[in-house]
Amino acid sequence: MNSFSEAKKNLSIKIYYFSATGNTKYGLKLLQHYLASKGHSCELKPVENEESICYDCDLLGFASPVYGGCPAKIVLDFIGRSKTFEKTVPAFTVLCPCSTMGYWGSREIFTDALKEKSIQVIASLGFLGNPSHPIVLGSLNKGKPFVKSFADGTGRPNEIDAAQIKEFSGKLIDIFKDYTAGKKVKKPRYSRIKRWVSNTVRAREIELINETSLEVYGDKCVKCGICVKECPVGALSLDPYPVRDMSKCFSCQKCINYCPKHALYIKGIRIIGYYNRKKLNDEELLIKHTKGSTQRPRQKKPVLLRILSTGFGMVIVIMLRSITDKLLIQRE
Ligand SMILES: Cc1cc2nc3c(=O)[nH]c(=O)nc-3n(C[C@H](O)[C@H](O)[C@H](O)COP(=O)(O)O)c2cc1C
Ligand code: SF4
Ligand code: SF4
Repeated sequence: MNSFSEAKKNLSIKIYYFSATGNTKYGLKLLQHYLASKGHSCELKPVENEESICYDCDLLGFASPVYGGCPAKIVLDFIGRSKTFEKTVPAFTVLCPCSTMGYWGSREIFTDALKEKSIQVIASLGFLGNPSHPIVLGSLNKGKPFVKSFADGTGRPNEIDAAQIKEFSGKLIDIFKDYTAGKKVKKPRYSRIKRWVSNTVRAREIELINETSLEVYGDKCVKCGICVKECPVGALSLDPYPVRDMSKCFSCQKCINYCPKHALYIKGIRIIGYYNRKKLNDEELLIKHTKGSTQRPRQKKPVLLRILSTGFGMVIVIMLRSITDKLLIQRE
């Protein structure tokens, strides 16, 4: 079904996503909740369980956390191995970085990957998520406000995001209607400069992160194999403790997030203790953040990010490439 008529009021929406520590998934649960309240069906499909894109819906979504200024490799690989799009199902993207700067380039990279498959992106959503990498969490624990301002996603998604997601759920349907009615829709923002910044500067983060090593506390690990089962790319095996295959791992931290014994850690980084999404279950969070989210609360961006978000700020970032190394590597 690819044309929106008066007879077809309820859309079938499918969102392919990846979420290692739960932020992206939680934002999608909120989106699903708001779309369902308008009578639309919204199916959430984890990419690790899917072979390729299936176009049997009215509208497709693709959602990912941001890793080093890019959507997660597992999501890009999923799109990459899918067949080129032949029908006219439009799509939207969803990104969940831990910092406002995380959007830089990642939206553009997502759009380009989908364009390669002739998929038309008609809308994009972004909301912030709690920092998911132990290096960032480690830095935040010890960090000064300057460092902390690089992770304005601390404690997110929250009611700010819920209100934003609610607003998006309405806009998305309107854009879809216009698109299928053949009206011109405003394309999501695309910045060549930001894409370039991501490719040349931010990608360095992933190189640095991949140099870190995953360690196991032998006295805590009970060899239950949960981490092995949860790893989305089969990078872990038990021998007798978890061993990581670096050629497969893309540093998502899902294993650390899921270990019930907190037995996994990154060398040199103190125990993180928890990821915030584990404190409340999905239903409790939905109630917490959807109550009273009719108006979007004011979002106060840290001063540093307000400066860096300008063109002038971007020039500074490009010139100070080495800043990434200094900020990211906070070893004991
Ligand atoms: C390997 C790695 C790299 C990351 N790189 C970035 C980044 O470049 N920019 C950013 O804003 N957040 C970055 N993050 C943080 C995550 O994008 C953010 O915490 C996200 O909300 C996690 O989503 P999830 O809970 O759905 O896995 C990174 C996290 C990891 C694990
Ligand atoms: S989930 Fe934790 S306790 Fe279980 S095998 Fe993995 S590291 Fe060990
Ligand atoms: S081994 Fe790597 S890819 Fe697998 S869950 Fe852990 S961090 Fe993610």
